[in-house]
Amino acid sequence: MEFFIDSADIEAIRELCSFLPIDGVTTNPTIITKSGKEPEQVFAELCEALTEDQKIIAQVVATDYEGILAEADKIASIRGGKNIVVKIPVTREGLRAIPVVKAKGISVLATGIYSPDQAFWAAKAGADYLAPYVNRMCNYGDGVGQVIELVQTLAQYGMEAKVCAASFKNVDQVHQLLAAGVPSITVNPDTIRDMVGHPGTAIAVDEFTANWEKAYGRTTL
Ligand code: E4P
Repeated sequence: MEFFIDSADIEAIRELCSFLPIDGVTTNPTIITKSGKEPEQVFAELCEALTEDQKIIAQVVATDYEGILAEADKIASIRGGKNIVVKIPVTREGLRAIPVVKAKGISVLATGIYSPDQAFWAAKAGADYLAPYVNRMCNYGDGVGQVIELVQTLAQYGMEAKVCAASFKNVDQVHQLLAAGVPSITVNPDTIRDMVGHPGTAIAVDEFTANWEKAYGRTTL
């Protein structure tokens, strides 16, 4: 499975990549604006912070068909196209553009998905990844359940598109999707940190050290 960081915060990306086997980074236009940097600078910094084996997944901003195609080409040229994925929203224009972008050999992640039915059509159009917005879907119903159902639907038809579950607000949402076997997922840095850190672990380690020091007068083996 693939685990991505949903962020353009280079420091957070470097920090998490320093101790976790991260498969890449996803961004969207809002995430890039939050960096306070020009998009070109963000992409340059991502190329520097990540290895070529880690994917960079970046989104088109244009909403018209021709604009989406032009921006997909632009994104696909980042890092010579190595492990670059273009995010295209599942609007009518986006769904029309997806097979054309795919035909050029560019990997596509269909984004902005709020329903399994939109995801189904993006899969039919040839998208490599489908990004349902889990937390946002929870505003309308059982977002987690719908995404689990989507994974099953794709398997039922032998469709190659992989769900890349996105938009999380807490660890439990991530946990439920991982437990259901979601093939890829993108999570913001704070929620990833919350997945890894548990106060109980720190207490246990402190206790091991204290007991060892009391017995042997040192804190190493
Ligand atoms: C990822 O690909 C999406 O752009 C992102 O997860 C959306 O998250 P949000 O609902 O926190 O904006």
